[in-house]
Amino acid sequence: MALLEVKEVTHFFGGLRAVYNLNLSLENGELVGLIGPNGAGKTTMFNLVSGFYRPTEGEIRFNGKDISGLRPHQVTSLGIARTFQNIRLWNSLSVFDNLCISQHHLLGYGFLQSVLRTPKFRSSERRVKKTAEEMLRMLGLSHYALEFPKNLPYGLQRRVEIGRALSLRPKLLLLDEPAAGMNPGEVDELIDLIRWIRDEFKLTVLLIEHHMRVVMNICERIKVVDFGETIADGSPEQIRQNRRVIQAYLGEEEPVNA
Ligand SMILES: Nc1ncnc2c1ncn2[C@@H]1O[C@H](COP(=O)(O)OP(=O)(O)OP(=O)(O)O)[C@@H](O)[C@H]1O
Ligand SMILES: [Mg+2]
Repeated sequence: MALLEVKEVTHFFGGLRAVYNLNLSLENGELVGLIGPNGAGKTTMFNLVSGFYRPTEGEIRFNGKDISGLRPHQVTSLGIARTFQNIRLWNSLSVFDNLCISQHHLLGYGFLQSVLRTPKFRSSERRVKKTAEEMLRMLGLSHYALEFPKNLPYGLQRRVEIGRALSLRPKLLLLDEPAAGMNPGEVDELIDLIRWIRDEFKLTVLLIEHHMRVVMNICERIKVVDFGETIADGSPEQIRQNRRVIQAYLGEEEPVNA
């Protein structure tokens, strides 16, 4: 059984068809790329899978369960975590607290319980802190635990966001343009990091990325969308040589270079 199954999903924003009749099946442990020109519907697809939008048509199944229409926190609790195209971290909280607060949300603790520090909250808090510490250590971020995210270089902020997603112990990780705004050195580190994460946490990863070096280097399979529709599906080598991809993606007939 596939871990994630997106079946004939269509999504409209008013009269605008952002995603059309899209199918996607992810097996456990796969690292798959989702690419396409600006406005192709990639982020909308993530928003559909992670419960931010409900599909206009079609079905999304995770671990065999229909998740279309579930709320984002429900989807997260089933094992899907994501990062955002525009980094979303709490800038008034430390890096460490950013990793803790997401877990508390997932465990269903509200602000009041955390202020009142109920016994149930305190016992889970120990586990939450341990997970946050462990995650920061594994991602090489321990040194920045007490910094505010906004004071960190862009590449590290991305890493914190990935750490936050991982602290939710997902089975499926959705990364929306993690290399955006990174310098070449940071991109190299990111390539290693994503590979390492997949192997270390035995995750399935779906990656949206414009950075071809990242996509071609780490994805085993790539899906290309344009105007909300699939235009190609295949190995990096097949995608690199696909005429339709070259035309749609680059708007010209040049090979897609890694
Ligand atoms: N909340 C929204 N309301 C209305 N239209 C939207 C909304 N979000 C996205 N769109 C539109 O839907 C289409 C798909 O957008 P989407 O953000 O999914 O593209 P994308 O593939 O992620 O692009 P990019 O590579 O630029 O991030 C675009 O035409 C966009 O303008
Ligand atoms: Mg996008």
